[in-house]
Amino acid sequence: MDKLVIQGGKRLQGEITVSGAKNAALPILCAGLLAETPLTLTGVPELRDVASTLKLLDTMGVKVNRDASTVTLEASDVQSFEATYEMVKTMRASILVLGPLLARFGTARVSLPGGCAIGSRPVDLHIKGLQAMGAAIHITHGYIQASTLHLPNRRLQGAKYYMDLVTVTGTENLMMAAALAQGTTVLENAAKEPEVVDLAECLVKMGARIKGAGTDTIIIEGVERLAGATHHIVCDRIEAGTYMVAAAMTGGDVTLKNARADLLEAVIEKLRDAGATVEHAADSITVKSSGRLKAVHIRTAPHPAFPTDMQAQFMALNAVADGVATVIETIFENRFMHVQELQRMGADIEVQGNTAVVKGVAELEGANVMATDLRASAGLVLAGLVGQGETVIDRIYHLDRGYERLDEKLTALGAVVKRTN
Ligand code: UD1
Repeated sequence: MDKLVIQGGKRLQGEITVSGAKNAALPILCAGLLAETPLTLTGVPELRDVASTLKLLDTMGVKVNRDASTVTLEASDVQSFEATYEMVKTMRASILVLGPLLARFGTARVSLPGGCAIGSRPVDLHIKGLQAMGAAIHITHGYIQASTLHLPNRRLQGAKYYMDLVTVTGTENLMMAAALAQGTTVLENAAKEPEVVDLAECLVKMGARIKGAGTDTIIIEGVERLAGATHHIVCDRIEAGTYMVAAAMTGGDVTLKNARADLLEAVIEKLRDAGATVEHAADSITVKSSGRLKAVHIRTAPHPAFPTDMQAQFMALNAVADGVATVIETIFENRFMHVQELQRMGADIEVQGNTAVVKGVAELEGANVMATDLRASAGLVLAGLVGQGETVIDRIYHLDRGYERLDEKLTALGAVVKRTN
């Protein structure tokens, strides 16, 4: 299993390019199932989760063609309508095939995701939304078995659906399903994340009629068929945010190309509160800091508030900042797995329920630590970058799920990082 070995204490400096967003690429690849002609996507990041999604689509009969960051999908001969437990277990986002399969082919069999490292993460809202559109859904043997064969023309029916909780993949699944439904669907309390907007933009290029993506009410007027199109994946705001924190923590001077400040307002505000300088142009962001940062309070919430996917990184920042800060996690109940590992590096953090109280220490010490999930691992990398001596991060396949060529990008900025196995 690959490990990442980091020699801490280097100031990061230079310029790197941010990749396409994992969380936009995954739903948009699944949207390929909706199109009768080829869908071409550019800016697709080379990540483990992307490879898993392409494999899943391939097992269904989608013709997949990949040339570096360009992917073409042709779903004219789909034979299988199933995502197995093996598949969904390795990547929860596999649930995103449910809406497209059901809407286009009238049948889908998708494993329930079950638990994961950051909490129970149910998919009840995805299921209820599809039921509101008329789908017959049975849960048997751990699988969601869904059908529209009893409906007029075997098509899902437009519906008004209020989501109890803001769910990102839930909104995406239902938006894709509604795109091919008969009639109009109104999704209320929808997720406003930029990745939802990117998916909507791609669907519109494919012929869908969607209004309101990026607000909490999305209106989708169903059409009979969707065609292929060409779409460029939006930049990864979480990858950008992670390097921004790295720059700030190391007293660095880093410019990120292909980064959009308008998608990172809450993160930028917190970095400025911490004492870093953040400047931006249309598609680049520069972060500078000189010396020690101030601790900042964090409370995660759906976009445009502070993203849960940046919580672990700011926990690392606070661990070596001046002062005491609280980090409150409101999205996932068990997303503090990185705390124990940071404590092994000398961090002073106390967790009570969904709140962590972080007292900044003078210095973290390099140690052997374990990656537990994708963003927790990012927090450990940041801690390693400022830790005294060597930090060895085990199980970095978690990082490979969501950070494209992380070791190369950090090396380009002057970090001393090596991948070993
Ligand atoms: C997506 C992102 C993930 C990010 C998260 C929150 C992708 C591929 N992943 O995950 O990186 O951390 O949004 O921004 O885009 N919930 C229910 N029932 C449901 C659905 C969700 O109770 O049917 C709950 C979840 O358990 C969680 C909350 O709603 O507590 C938000 O989850 P959700 O937005 O659905 O997260 P994902 O879409 O899985």
